[in-house]
Amino acid sequence: MAHQTWKRRSFLRTAGLAGLAPLFPLHAAAGGSGWSESFARALEKNPMLLGWRSVRADRLRCEARIEGRLPAELQGIFYRNGPAVYQRFGVRYRHWFEGDGMVQACRFDGRGVSHHARVLETPKLVRETSAQRRLFSGFATSAGGGAGPRRPDDLNVANTSVLDHHGELLALWEGGSASVLDRETLAWQGFKVWGESLDGLPFTAHPKVESDGTLWAFGYSFAPVPALLLYHIAPDGTVRRAHRIDVGAPGMVHDFVVTARHLVIVIPPLVFAPAAGDEVLLDALSWQPALGSRVLVVDKDDFDTRRWYQLPAGFGFHHGNGWEDDSGVIRFDHCVATDASLVTDRMRAIMRGELGEATPERYARFTLRPNGSAEVEATGEEAEFPRIAPSVAGRRNRYVYTLGAASVESTGWHLRRVVKRDLDAGSVEAFDYGPGVIPEEHVFVPKQAPRSEDDGWLIGPYLDYVRELSGIAIFDARHVADGPMARAWLDYPLPIALHGHFSPA
Ligand SMILES: [Fe+2]
Repeated sequence: MAHQTWKRRSFLRTAGLAGLAPLFPLHAAAGGSGWSESFARALEKNPMLLGWRSVRADRLRCEARIEGRLPAELQGIFYRNGPAVYQRFGVRYRHWFEGDGMVQACRFDGRGVSHHARVLETPKLVRETSAQRRLFSGFATSAGGGAGPRRPDDLNVANTSVLDHHGELLALWEGGSASVLDRETLAWQGFKVWGESLDGLPFTAHPKVESDGTLWAFGYSFAPVPALLLYHIAPDGTVRRAHRIDVGAPGMVHDFVVTARHLVIVIPPLVFAPAAGDEVLLDALSWQPALGSRVLVVDKDDFDTRRWYQLPAGFGFHHGNGWEDDSGVIRFDHCVATDASLVTDRMRAIMRGELGEATPERYARFTLRPNGSAEVEATGEEAEFPRIAPSVAGRRNRYVYTLGAASVESTGWHLRRVVKRDLDAGSVEAFDYGPGVIPEEHVFVPKQAPRSEDDGWLIGPYLDYVRELSGIAIFDARHVADGPMARAWLDYPLPIALHGHFSPA
């Protein structure tokens, strides 16, 4: 195979990760006691929690009711993925991220929008159904007694994002393998094996695809040794390189940055430090701000050429974009908080119906200089789910689209505005969905022949928890503050999902 230029050395370096299991052979009493009741009581008082109620059916279909003017040129399938099943066999899961995944396909044909959703029948779900109980302790939910997971994919809920690459539709989950889906039925078909010795290894939910189809990805593992795995995958889906890098203290890494010449990975000081009495992986994650955040910069052409930067401690999930100038200065953005309470506290508390306290993530711009110095410029504005035009990925971008809080002072649980940030002008425009609505990640879809970076649509789902209906909003991305030009209302409410991808027709 011409494209599969495996290096024996890289091959061997990845092999050590294959013996990853057991991830966390931690046993304890079964979780869930009282959480179901607590959530149900809280939902009666606070309808916003509808976004974290288990989906009521494994499969859903409807033709959306269109409000406004649907652009005829916007044609393709908007895929979504997110946790959707939060309770099985009397056990309410104890973290948002543990929900079993449901993939949605919203088909835009220029005249209407048809919606199809399906809970993924992963091996984890199927085995549990057969056993009529939770089998393994997960990220935050204990199964109580029994054996630990044999490999990460025993816990794989395939619930985080969707990748459409080289004709394959993949559901992504960062703890283990990607999952191959049937494009028409959305049925779970099998775990993606990128190559020999890569079976079952972690693969990020945030891979980056370049304009020629080249795919960059990473995976991280806490045990048996902390490591990052880097993937370089050709446009035809074959693995060019897969390379394991020892990183010292392991951190929880969710996203990364790809510039023209480098991969940039921010490793926050949320480290794996198991102690006696820890029941689940989340218990074993420790916020250690004294370590600071470390930034690893890897040469795309040579994974052995690396350098590190040290920054103040921060925790964030997502980057919008990164790029470098002719002098080698790398710039990227990050939605980042000063601690990890969002993941360690709030996303756990929401499962028992409590909003909890958490330090908000704010939009920040990072600069890494060739002389080893680094700086962070924080805007102070709360932000999450950054997206950009695909045409400027890895290059200097003018615009980034995020969700934002209702006001600068507001730090409530959910982000209510859709924000378009003009990085050149230093200005912001936004649309506020208003009370009673939770918007989700909004994705930029370019027109077929765009005349500017923002010549396209911004499309994103929302949950109207007052009407108890979900919908998909379509904005002219040039005029976000004008609000949606169209809304596609579904026949049902859906749990809040995570990430989406638009595949043009
Ligand atoms: Fe994410």
